[in-house]
Amino acid sequence: MSISNSKPKKPPNASTHPSNPDNSMSAASLSSVEDNSTQNLTQESAKEPANPDELSFVHDAVLLQEAVAAVLGVKALPKQTGSDEQSSDRQNSLNMSGIYVDATFGRGGHSRLLLSQLADDATLIVFDKDPTAIRVAQELASTDSRVQVVHDSFATLTDSLAAMGITQVDGLMADLGISSPQIDDGSRGFSFMRDGAVDMRMDTSRGQSVAEWLETVDDDTLANVLYEFGEERHSRRIARAIKQMDSYKSTLELAEVIKVAHPNWQRGKHPATQSFQAMRIFINNELGDVDNFLEQSIPILKSGGQLAVISFHSLEDRRIKQFLQRHSKGQYPEDENLPMPPKRPRYFSKPKRVGPSKAETSHNPRARSAWLRMATRTDVDYLTDIEP
Ligand SMILES: C[S@@+](CC[C@H](N)C(=O)[O-])C[C@H]1O[C@@H](n2cnc3c(N)ncnc32)[C@H](O)[C@@H]1O
Repeated sequence: MSISNSKPKKPPNASTHPSNPDNSMSAASLSSVEDNSTQNLTQESAKEPANPDELSFVHDAVLLQEAVAAVLGVKALPKQTGSDEQSSDRQNSLNMSGIYVDATFGRGGHSRLLLSQLADDATLIVFDKDPTAIRVAQELASTDSRVQVVHDSFATLTDSLAAMGITQVDGLMADLGISSPQIDDGSRGFSFMRDGAVDMRMDTSRGQSVAEWLETVDDDTLANVLYEFGEERHSRRIARAIKQMDSYKSTLELAEVIKVAHPNWQRGKHPATQSFQAMRIFINNELGDVDNFLEQSIPILKSGGQLAVISFHSLEDRRIKQFLQRHSKGQYPEDENLPMPPKRPRYFSKPKRVGPSKAETSHNPRARSAWLRMATRTDVDYLTDIEP
């Protein structure tokens, strides 16, 4: 079965994002900006794609073994004997039953390895916003009846699963951000190194492109977006330069305008890196979707079910970390100063964090900024150790 959820997506609304009227960020607060915050796009390679066919772009799955082991709740996967680690060699399969979700199918690297460890009666539901990713997922579903495909945001997790008659699952994983095929295909507009329309939507079938948004946004809102989602300290100056452009038809032109406006280039990093990241995160409502997805993991995971999330920049990683802290320790920032903190439920076991090995980062530089955070959904346990 392949379901297509056609709920209209609200275009991101600038007014829902906290604004930053004073953009003069202090040196102290800047030092808290983690190095990995813009890695998604700094890993852009200068090479041109060999083949312009959108399906020909490949994606090297990051933290592949680690994430699949995490979502299955095992320390490691059985050693693969054949040359193809994703083969469905039953001898090397855990043959796990149950219902699993890969919320970010991409090109299916994680999904295929996961399928190799699932029994014939298991189900794998895959989500993606991207129509090209969905075409690849549908091809996989046509040859493997365990796969069901949802073309929608993972922020619709509970509703989409409910539409399939599913209320709880055994494992849930997400590999956040954009895929290499999305960056490498200049026509998608994510790249400042390949020319294309200024689009940047993951779901090209709905919503507003960055070009359409730039036509109407005011300087202040644009500056706030560049600052908040790109941690770009020169956001006001860059926003003014962008708004002075006659049109927004070319990513290379937009990147050039940002480059000229940027007063402080860093060696080895294109000056448009942070601005492009910010516009992409904003137009796809990436952080809002992650928050929604995390909250929905609580009701959707069975007790004993596994959550595994890979992130590539600090804005996302911080959210995942804080979510797991709140729901494993019962630590709510809003309780900190209360004389009588309420009893808080604990929904998850102590979370774990795993980064890529040296071997992986030398083979795949994009993995350098990745973190995998994981935790097991537990029976609800109310904190009793807080004395009123
Ligand atoms: C890093 S790639 C995943 C790669 C995949 N794990 C693989 O091995 O091929 C991220 C994918 O998530 C999708 N995506 C990002 N945000 C999404 C969201 N809110 N809902 C659904 N898909 C999303 C992107 O379109 C992209 O295809």
